[in-house]
Amino acid sequence: MGVVASAPAKVILFGEHFVVYGEPAIVLAIDKRAYAKVELRNDKRVHVRSTNLGISGYFEDNLFRLETGNEQAKYKLEPIKKVVDKISEISGKTAGLDVEIRSTVPVAAGLGSSAAVAAATAMAVAKILGVELSKEEIFRITYEAERIVHGTPSGVDPAIATFGGTILFQMDTGVKPLEAKMDIPLVIGDTRVSRSTRNLVAQVREKRKRFPSIVDPILRSGRQIVLRAIEAIRQGDIRTLGELANINHALLCAIGVSSESLEWLITNARKAGALGAKLTGAGGGGCMIALAEPDRLEAIAEAIQRAGGTPYVARKTDHGVRIES
Ligand code: MEV
Repeated sequence: MGVVASAPAKVILFGEHFVVYGEPAIVLAIDKRAYAKVELRNDKRVHVRSTNLGISGYFEDNLFRLETGNEQAKYKLEPIKKVVDKISEISGKTAGLDVEIRSTVPVAAGLGSSAAVAAATAMAVAKILGVELSKEEIFRITYEAERIVHGTPSGVDPAIATFGGTILFQMDTGVKPLEAKMDIPLVIGDTRVSRSTRNLVAQVREKRKRFPSIVDPILRSGRQIVLRAIEAIRQGDIRTLGELANINHALLCAIGVSSESLEWLITNARKAGALGAKLTGAGGGGCMIALAEPDRLEAIAEAIQRAGGTPYVARKTDHGVRIES
């Protein structure tokens, strides 16, 4: 008898990277989820297996023993251990656990896979240890785990994985749900080029340090895009959202986080009738999104496929982290 919890992946519609410097971002939870199944063990080991990554191992007395995969496995499984430790600390109970991760979220692609895994694990571990955690607490625990993976994250990924829906996120004010009556029709295109959010965030930090008077106005433009986008979402104005996506992408190019593979998918999506297209997440590879009238989505998905990407027609979901069984 175990507990299964899940949390959603996300796309950032507007504001990635700028959000790290206190600007707002608009994020959407999508219908791809990470699942964590947790069972109690008879010993003190925290055994973790990720079926997607094909890695497994266990933590015992602060040592990690690898079972499947290479030495990178410890680094990838450590955030899960951090989540378990934090909840054990809160509950005052230390139990051996089997944690099994299954996910439909592409990894290292800008869709918030690691945050979804951490949030799902936090909820499942809390449930099995009999601790009542608020969503705010799950967000905090997930954020701490994300710091191991991403260095200096803004918290946007843990926020959407926890709360779901469509949110406005800003570091100092946190999460505000956005009234998105419209279905924001979009196609995700995965370049399948994996990259590190940690490195890309560090590169942007370095660029800002070298060229503050150039980069800071770009951050402020990013804020204006988000403010206009909130209006457009309220009005159900997909055309304006498309235009804003194109401007946002140009700003992301300016700070150096696009890549050849992203540009190729974006160009092809626009040619196939997207109203706007941009990279989503940290960039450098990973995913792009194309906004379009619903009747163009299929053609855009085909264009992305022909261009060598993997398309997903994403649906938004209101369901944040939750217990499945
Ligand atoms: C990653 O999904 C989004 C970034 O803005 C990093 C962050 O906000 O933590 C690139």
